[in-house]
Amino acid sequence: MKIIMKSKFITFFAILLGAAGVALADHHGNKIEITANDTMQFNSKAFEVAAGKEVTLVFKNLGNLPKAAMGHNVVILKPGTATATYGMAAVSAAASEYIPQDDANKALVVAHTKLLGPGEEDTITFTLEPGEYPFVCSFPGHFGLMNGVITAK
Ligand code: CO
Repeated sequence: MKIIMKSKFITFFAILLGAAGVALADHHGNKIEITANDTMQFNSKAFEVAAGKEVTLVFKNLGNLPKAAMGHNVVILKPGTATATYGMAAVSAAASEYIPQDDANKALVVAHTKLLGPGEEDTITFTLEPGEYPFVCSFPGHFGLMNGVITAK
């Protein structure tokens, strides 16, 4: 019973945070979960994590459309990176699942997941210095809708 109460309590706060638009990392694990769907949406555009501590990012593609038509990834970029510029560069990087391999673009990437097809998931870990890190899905045409910011503090 106590466990059920706690679960409801957490859900209540998750709803409040959702309304505020910022998804906070789990306090103990510094873990965030990002999902994507067939309408080119991430579950949230704003995440907050603790700086200087390993972050676990679990990314899930909840969609049904084939990977070739509606693949999704999460590419975390250095603070100040223009997501549109990166997204445009990524269009021609099909051979590397839309992660450009030239030195200039590679230098902009802090971490990235695999490109996921329907029902797939990937977990990555990384550690951030304090700052605001833009993230995008770099699948062609997605960065305009599929973008957000991870704030580390
Ligand atoms: Co996408």
